[in-house]
Amino acid sequence: MAKKKEELKDIPVHVAVIMDGNGRWAKKRHLPRNFGHRAGAKTLEDICDDAWDLGIKYLTVYAFSTENWKRSVEEVTGIMTILRNYLTNAIERANKNNMRVRVIGERSRLDKDILAAIENLEKATENNTGLQFTIALNYGGRDDVTRAMRKLAEEVKEGKLSPEEITEEMVTAHLDTAELPDPDLLIRTSGEMRISNFMPWQISYSEFYFTDTLWPDFDKAELQKAIDYYTGRDRRFGGVK
Ligand code: FPP
Repeated sequence: MAKKKEELKDIPVHVAVIMDGNGRWAKKRHLPRNFGHRAGAKTLEDICDDAWDLGIKYLTVYAFSTENWKRSVEEVTGIMTILRNYLTNAIERANKNNMRVRVIGERSRLDKDILAAIENLEKATENNTGLQFTIALNYGGRDDVTRAMRKLAEEVKEGKLSPEEITEEMVTAHLDTAELPDPDLLIRTSGEMRISNFMPWQISYSEFYFTDTLWPDFDKAELQKAIDYYTGRDRRFGGVK
């Protein structure tokens, strides 16, 4: 049923995406899993443009989780190769589109050249004011919170802070996502309805949109559908309007 105009919400400022289904997309075509990841990376490039076209300001995607290291060496190596290429080629495209790129996640386990590519890309795009695009790489939500806790504990140990003074805002400010607003909308593709440790602190009040579409098949029309779903929602933030 169509919503009345006054019931409709503005489009989401920050959209987070769990890009799932690359493996199944490849399997359906009798291709190796990494072909699916390659197709997924191409989809991601298009979705960055589409997101900005549709008025989204922040886009954050789950590219590699702290759990993904458990996949076969072949698959992990394949994903890292795709990432390496992506990070290197992204500078030119990002600057052309005025897109700023950030990477969140635990960096010490990444290869040196990937680290250098991340630092280059972040630095080269830091003044861009278009889409604020964030890639979660070796990211785990619990790991993010744990690292934030460690930083706060250090401050307590150094006598800069007492435990009673710690607020939710301080925890938020110590997360990898400190510079980003909380996601308004979380999309997960490929029919799975799980959070899989993706920004659990930050998505406390997000709307969730699940679609059966596999990530490589996700396109602008699908993104529009997710936004339409979101704008029709009545969000209460725990209170009563
Ligand atoms: C989930 O599909 C996808 C991943 C674990 C990797 C996502 C990576 C990309 C889209 C490409 C690289 C990213 C960037 C930023 C260039 P799955 O393998 O779990 O699929 P399945 O559930 O069908 O097996």
